[in-house]
Amino acid sequence: MKVTVAGAGYVGLVTSACLAELGHQVTCIDIQKEKIDLLQCGRSPIYEPGLEPLLEKNLRNGQLHFTTNPHKAYSDAGIIFIAVGTPETHDGSADLKYIHVVAHTIANYIEQDVIVCTKSTVPVGTNELIQQIIDSRKPPNLQVEVVANPEFLREGAAILDFFHGDRIVIGTNHPEVAALMEQFYLPLNIPIIKTDIRSAEMIKYAANAFLATKISFINEIANICEHVGANIDEVAYGIGQDKRIGQHFLKAGVGYGGSCFPKDTKALVQIGGNFKQRFELLEAVINVNNRQQSLPVLKAMDTIGSLHGKKVALLGLAFKADTDDVRESAALTIVKELLEAGADVSAYDPIAIPKARKIVGDAIGYTEEIRQALQDADLAIIATDWEQIKHLPLEVYLTHMKNPIVIDGRNCYSLQEIKQFPITYLSVGRPGHPIVNDKFE
Ligand code: UGA
Repeated sequence: MKVTVAGAGYVGLVTSACLAELGHQVTCIDIQKEKIDLLQCGRSPIYEPGLEPLLEKNLRNGQLHFTTNPHKAYSDAGIIFIAVGTPETHDGSADLKYIHVVAHTIANYIEQDVIVCTKSTVPVGTNELIQQIIDSRKPPNLQVEVVANPEFLREGAAILDFFHGDRIVIGTNHPEVAALMEQFYLPLNIPIIKTDIRSAEMIKYAANAFLATKISFINEIANICEHVGANIDEVAYGIGQDKRIGQHFLKAGVGYGGSCFPKDTKALVQIGGNFKQRFELLEAVINVNNRQQSLPVLKAMDTIGSLHGKKVALLGLAFKADTDDVRESAALTIVKELLEAGADVSAYDPIAIPKARKIVGDAIGYTEEIRQALQDADLAIIATDWEQIKHLPLEVYLTHMKNPIVIDGRNCYSLQEIKQFPITYLSVGRPGHPIVNDKFE
């Protein structure tokens, strides 16, 4: 099947590479020429484990092509996937300008009947709008069916999620189109859920909102644990054993970040608001998350007082491990607050430095060596749970820092381990070390 993917962002690239791997002839189109030039050489503009080898392999064997030319991309496509960005506007709603451009371009360039599947996260009703745009411009003899087909790929695990996802959602009001898409996805052997278009659109927002809610919930429980002397690791395990709750997304930390949860939660609040349906629970989830991102610096100030002139090692810049993405990363909130407090920040990250530097500039120091970041530091804050940080021998904090004080926003170390070292250690939702409140000693 000749497949075209519009957008060479993280969803578009992963979708293109994986569909080529499944044996389809895939053309990925993007308007950014530099990106396409890079991709044509088999190099990925994003860091995603396993992606580059898939791109290289499928370029080499002729299954995958990159282009900026809409005629090449759309004229003979049997299925077109829309995977362009839907960034946040000033009021939190999704900006659909790239969707509009792609819909117009598809209508102008198609030369045969085609199914258009939207992978981008779009507000309810958008796929019907895409259908209208295309129908109003396409050659009248051609038939186009727009399908809502949201993606559930996690950055850092996107290839795995593509081939082993929990479900595939196909939203269309036409059973024959649903059957064709079901056939298309059959080789993946993933459960398929067929719905109407609007329900499919809503499933994506509801899924991300629910996962974000789990995270803010566990962070709130963690904050109470700190006061009552309980341990969030034990509590999360204890509630997660209940199958109705489940173990996933119960890891307390510095709050969620990334290009999806912050944007999609705000967009859903906005969608509800459009119908005078205030989504108070999700508003609270967002507020809790904003507060959570500020806790490490508050804890730092509680521990050493003023941060003015203090050297702070910030371990991790990416919004989570295994990605170079820093969008809405808690680490960037921490950087901002540390700079406002007059601290001198030295940040470590194994791969996200170039992307962080584009946003933060030279206001902080950067290093790919953890030890260098820790050298002579008065304080360390852990913002990302990179394996390199989790496996750092604890002696290093003692040998390199001026004062071994660690604020761990990701609970990277076990309390058992920490107890063996004279390190002042504060994590999320667990007793500190040494325990300062003698009530719990
Ligand atoms: C998320 C969803 O998990 C995907 O299913 C969805 O397709 C994607 O958004 C999207 O809409 O495109 P992603 O943002 O890549 O994927 O990353 P997650 O693994 O979901 O993590 C999001 C944030 O939550 C990270 O900052 C992570 O550190 C944080 N998190 C996650 C926690 O703090 N605790 C947890 O237990 C889990």
